[in-house]
Amino acid sequence: MRNDYLYRLNKKYMATDFLPLNGTDYIEFYVGNAKQSALYYQHCFGFELVAYAGPETGVRDRASYVVQQHKIRLVLTSSLVPGSDINKHVDKHGDGVKVLALWVDDATRSFQETLLRGAVAVQEPKKLADEFGEVVVSSIQTYGDTVHTFVERKNYKGAFLPGYKAAKSQFKSTSVGLRHVDHCVGNVELGQMNKWVKFYEDVMGFKLLITFDDKDISTEYSALMSKVVSNGNGYVKFPINEPAQGKKKSQIEEYIDFYHGAGVQHIAVATDDILHTVSELRKRGVEFLHVPEVYYEDVMKRVGHINEDLEELKKLNILIDRDEEGYLLQIFSKPVQDRPTLFFEIIERNGAKSFGKGNFKALFESIEREQALRGNL
Ligand code: FE2
Repeated sequence: MRNDYLYRLNKKYMATDFLPLNGTDYIEFYVGNAKQSALYYQHCFGFELVAYAGPETGVRDRASYVVQQHKIRLVLTSSLVPGSDINKHVDKHGDGVKVLALWVDDATRSFQETLLRGAVAVQEPKKLADEFGEVVVSSIQTYGDTVHTFVERKNYKGAFLPGYKAAKSQFKSTSVGLRHVDHCVGNVELGQMNKWVKFYEDVMGFKLLITFDDKDISTEYSALMSKVVSNGNGYVKFPINEPAQGKKKSQIEEYIDFYHGAGVQHIAVATDDILHTVSELRKRGVEFLHVPEVYYEDVMKRVGHINEDLEELKKLNILIDRDEEGYLLQIFSKPVQDRPTLFFEIIERNGAKSFGKGNFKALFESIEREQALRGNL
């Protein structure tokens, strides 16, 4: 009886979820110097080099380094020739995210179903093969110049994708305990948030999880609005931000000005032990936003009991928030390139499924201090 019920429920779910996702497959950055970026992620963030494509593997126009930590896979790509699309992307946006790749069982169907619902095609389903098997990839456009690539790899056993060879670095990196991508946030232009939320709902079958308006997220100067969309199983979550009217320039506007359009603002990566992860990251040179001591004076009243020692969290400047289901610990890096664009969030969830709303004010005041230093407030 119960099995029958589950069967029908599953069938119904499969019928309604036209874009089943297994999670994030990889995140590809277009950068000015992939060799150096790859070493930055190995040395500072504890990733390990696992694959490479470039002249040595028969790719003449680019070099790509694939670094991995548990389930998180980043690809750093640079052009080897002038005038390429990679160069144009870097020229306009600086170093930034080009591809948010999604792991699927059927990349052809993912492409067809999303195109049917209004997606703009970037890459028709294409079979790639080498001695380790075959992969099917397809791509559609999302906000700005960012792309979603569907990756079907059930018949593949290689290091990354055909065209790449397994690689190892001379540099011995050690993991800092990062586990998986928790969410990836997009910044879009003023008035564009609802359009992109609708895109994820209509074209990709995502559901709206949470809405933050400018009353939730405003400081004396800066304001923004945000909506979080999630796929059916919750493995893929995309908050979308747009600037809101404040006394001075919103941090989202600063991003849009320097990125010259919409793009990925931050990638949140999950850890099971944020104290260990953040102390390692700090030791290795990763810079974080600073929240003043006063934040910790009344934080315990707000969040109640937590398992960690507050002094330890304070020492590392880690933020705390609670929702109905539990609490979370989080911290935000400074931008990881010279333009004030992409940054990372490190998050440890202890039951909480939210995004740290209780920390927004303290956090945004901290961002504004940095904005002021850059002369952009
Ligand atoms: Fe976040």
